[in-house]
Amino acid sequence: MLRLLEIEQKYLQGNIPVNVLKNLDFKIDKPKNIGIIGPSGSGKTSLLNIIGLIEKPKSGKYFFNNLDCLDLSNLRKTEFRKKNIGYIFQNNQLLEDFNVQENVALPLILNGENYNKACDKAMNFLRLFGLEKRMTFKPGVLSGGEQQRVAVARAMIKKPSVLLADEPTGSLDDNTAEIVFKYITDLSKKNNTLTIIATHNTKFIKKLDICFKINEGKLIEI
Ligand SMILES: Nc1ncnc2c1ncn2[C@@H]1O[C@H](COP(=O)(O)OP(=O)(O)OP(=O)(O)O)[C@@H](O)[C@H]1O
Ligand SMILES: [Mg+2]
Repeated sequence: MLRLLEIEQKYLQGNIPVNVLKNLDFKIDKPKNIGIIGPSGSGKTSLLNIIGLIEKPKSGKYFFNNLDCLDLSNLRKTEFRKKNIGYIFQNNQLLEDFNVQENVALPLILNGENYNKACDKAMNFLRLFGLEKRMTFKPGVLSGGEQQRVAVARAMIKKPSVLLADEPTGSLDDNTAEIVFKYITDLSKKNNTLTIIATHNTKFIKKLDICFKINEGKLIEI
């Protein structure tokens, strides 16, 4: 289903090159819930960005169902993302020009669904997350935890083949974190989504199908 081969990613920090991912290989054949842990700065976000076709690695290969993803034009990459990828960003990235309901409906609208239908679906989805009273608000007035739940709803509404979740429960209290985490993992199973969750929360990691840590730029199963 998804294959990464000899992925290298490095950045220049000032004049100093930093090798973040080194010869990283990763192969997954079936939709599963996968965890990635690693200290701050180890490359979790970089790896998710590469899988989400947001960043291009310096070298390596990336295949999704035999499609050579790194060879696609920018337009094709955008289409690929719209069709296949749901992304819960580490910093939410909700759009302030739209209210909460529209933020969640947006992936459906971008995929050609009628505005009113998409908003109805978003409303039902937001109810599951206890956010029905926040639907008409702009994201900026919500609490950090509420924003995070909106971001989860937005990433999952189109039932993506691949869900990338970067610290999806980072700003939630323990109880809400547990509910949101369970929601993500249960819904991923139901929808046959390959879900990759980067997290610092070792308690949650144990509930996933497979777990890796990033060590010296490579993924090691733990
Ligand atoms: N665009 C960039 N330019 C320069 N350096 C970058 C860039 N993106 C990431 N880095 C560096 O690469 C390293 C890995 O960053 P990354 O965001 O992937 O870490 P992370 O594991 O997600 O950390 P955290 O747990 O804090 O979110 C860091 O040292 C970071 O400063
Ligand atoms: Mg990160």
